[in-house]
Amino acid sequence: MNSSGTPFSTLIRTASHEQHVEAETSTFMSDLLGGRLGVDAYARYTEQLWFVYRALEEGAEQLSGDPVAGPFIQPELLRLAALERDLAHLRGGDWRAGLTALPATQEYARRVTECALTWPGGYVAHHYTRYLGDLSGGQIIRDKAEKTWGFARKGDGVRFYVFERIANPAAFKRGYRALLDEVRADDLEKQRIVAECKRAFALNSAVFSALGEEFRVSA
Ligand code: HEM
Repeated sequence: MNSSGTPFSTLIRTASHEQHVEAETSTFMSDLLGGRLGVDAYARYTEQLWFVYRALEEGAEQLSGDPVAGPFIQPELLRLAALERDLAHLRGGDWRAGLTALPATQEYARRVTECALTWPGGYVAHHYTRYLGDLSGGQIIRDKAEKTWGFARKGDGVRFYVFERIANPAAFKRGYRALLDEVRADDLEKQRIVAECKRAFALNSAVFSALGEEFRVSA
């Protein structure tokens, strides 16, 4: 709880609500989920995620003993291996050869790394923004992707969205919110974490808008 009595998990969700709507309804996401873009756009998006998760997960190991970020580091969340299988399916065995980060993705990954190295609270903000989102709306994206581009259910192409080691996502999210509520941070640090979460959403939106420029739906 903070001094106003609001659990931190509620505070961070409420504070980022508006930006969540913005990300969800961005042109790129709407076109992608509306079935108006080809699998190439989905692959390009998946490539961008690879850079973001590399930054998140490279930083994870050395943070596992940290009093603030440590409790959030849970191996069942790790996504990089799943992304790599998806990319091998989407782009072929030499997927690494053609992999490039958009400038917006570089900026996003750079900020994640900076937080991982210098500010555990900031890292928590990025961790929350991605992993709790993947466990939630990610499931809607998986369903649409399977239907739109014909991937096998929970198979290659959408493994990023499948948390093999989390049998009950709703229960896991409850546990995650409890970790947020117990985070070792005073009110001021909590405010900073919320601000970083908003920045994380903005960094995601910037990637969507760059992807939207690259993949325009012809009228
Ligand atoms: C079309 C895209 C998206 C859809 C359909 C979607 C949908 C949802 C839904 C339905 C929930 C609520 C789940 C629940 O209450 O348990 C949720 C939660 C969440 N989403 Fe998204 N989302 C999308 C994109 C994003 C993006 C781009 C991000 C950030 C990178 C994100 C981050 C989150 C977070 C952090 C939560 C957890 C909120 C909380 O309970 O604290 N979502 N999303």
